[in-house]
Amino acid sequence: MPEPAKLCVSNQKGGVGKTTVAINVAGALNARGRDVLFVDLDPQGNATEGLGLVDEYESPPPSLFDVLTDPEERETIADLVVEHEEMDVIPSNIDMTAVEPELVLARRGGEQLSLALEHVEDDYDYVVVDCPPHLGYLADNALFATRNVLIPALAESTSKRALELLFDHIESLELDYEIEITDRCVVANRVEETNEAKEMMEWFHQAFPDIPVWEVRKRVALQRAFTDGHSVVEYSPDLDMAAVFDAVAADLDEQFGFADAEVPA
Ligand SMILES: Nc1ncnc2c1ncn2[C@@H]1O[C@H](COP(=O)(O)OP(=O)(O)OP(=O)(O)O)[C@@H](O)[C@H]1O
Ligand SMILES: [Mg+2]
Repeated sequence: MPEPAKLCVSNQKGGVGKTTVAINVAGALNARGRDVLFVDLDPQGNATEGLGLVDEYESPPPSLFDVLTDPEERETIADLVVEHEEMDVIPSNIDMTAVEPELVLARRGGEQLSLALEHVEDDYDYVVVDCPPHLGYLADNALFATRNVLIPALAESTSKRALELLFDHIESLELDYEIEITDRCVVANRVEETNEAKEMMEWFHQAFPDIPVWEVRKRVALQRAFTDGHSVVEYSPDLDMAAVFDAVAADLDEQFGFADAEVPA
């Protein structure tokens, strides 16, 4: 089997929809017949909860914390994989709140997720990583491991600065590690019918002329799907936003060369 396509959902600004986008893109990829491994790298564990796995978040060690901080535990990442109806999940854990200072002190502190994923990733078409809302070692681990980023952003002017900071950070990471990180798409999220939103949509298209800029509208069904522990594609496939996430997934399939694979009806 070829290498899986790996991508992280990143924006250090809080509450812009990283977790919502990560779960729903993963769900849409699954609906297209892809095998998806979802990694919740955020110590807040929102995605873990939003996939109905809150017990895992509170489970005793070993957890993702141990996998990332103790090289001898690295292989046990395989034991952390939980089956969800739509995807396999490596849940976050309450212990992850203590992981950043450990990674700062560790040798190869930015590479631990990448090293761990080597033990599980071959079984999947996609690995999707949900990032925490700041540019620390966890975000670096996600960017280093995946080399591809999907960027959710609110359609409001504060997003300009947020994206500038994100791209400065990505650029310095590329220089430090001598790697290339590719931005795959922008997802403008919680878009409403306001002039500010319209102006920002134009700004996104101008700022990112070479990649798709998707538009996800404000929909309470997205919150309901989260509470139900599923992607909206599974929870409410007829919702207009399920079609948007399917389009994102179809485009990723094309970008990563899955376009010719058979898509189940
Ligand atoms: N398109 C949308 N329509 C309605 N509600 C949304 C939409 N996108 C996100 N939300 C809601 O907004 C809140 C924040 O979204 P989410 O948790 O996905 O953001 P985040 O970037 O992951 O946050 P954090 O930075 O804390 O990780 C959640 O309550 C979520 O349900
Ligand atoms: Mg989140």
